Amino acid sequence: MKTDHFGKDIATVLLTEEQIQRRLVEVAAQVDEDYADRDILLVGVLKGAVVVMADFIRCLESHVTMDWMAISTYGSGTKSSGVVRILKDLDTDLDGRDVLIVEDILDTGLTLSWLIENLRSRGPASVEVFTFLRKPDAVQVELDPKYVGFDIPNEFVVGYGLDYAEHYRNMREVGVLEPSVYGR
Ligand code: XMP
Ligand code: MG
Repeated sequence: MKTDHFGKDIATVLLTEEQIQRRLVEVAAQVDEDYADRDILLVGVLKGAVVVMADFIRCLESHVTMDWMAISTYGSGTKSSGVVRILKDLDTDLDGRDVLIVEDILDTGLTLSWLIENLRSRGPASVEVFTFLRKPDAVQVELDPKYVGFDIPNEFVVGYGLDYAEHYRNMREVGVLEPSVYGR
């Protein structure tokens, strides 16, 4: 769905479809180079990473398999608490695998640092991260994702898989949510 159809809910568009697709091609080329001759297991984090995963896997030339986890950080709305619970675990055994986590956004980093530790404890050969978005001003833990799509300002964004109260995931662009929407 196009951003215009969401009317005044979107304060500004941060990333257009063209910018997103161009960047995914660049990141995929880097991943292809780094993982030459290795099978990658992409681990997507539901539900936000669904859209970026769908576009990203089609930019890759490498052989990949894909699995999904659903985790929930206690707390709702626009703030994350860092207390994480697994809602759906992986189907795949990670023993000896090269894991690349695909995340929608790195905000405080609490969710992702928990996830990295959790996956590392399962005996993979490697665990790396591709986060589509990162808010450098919000990061609270030391975390150095190998691949970052875009650094963005510390504002609540929606679209391209990212939601507010489960809405806006199907918006094609990434936009800043009008703060008055949170109060609804
Ligand atoms: P932390 O703070 O743990 O948060 O890095 C990561 C998770 O919080 C959600 N999140 C957002 N979702 N727009 C969203 O739609 C945002 O601006 C935003 N910031 C954080 C998201 O689920 C992410 O995985
Ligand atoms: Mg998420």
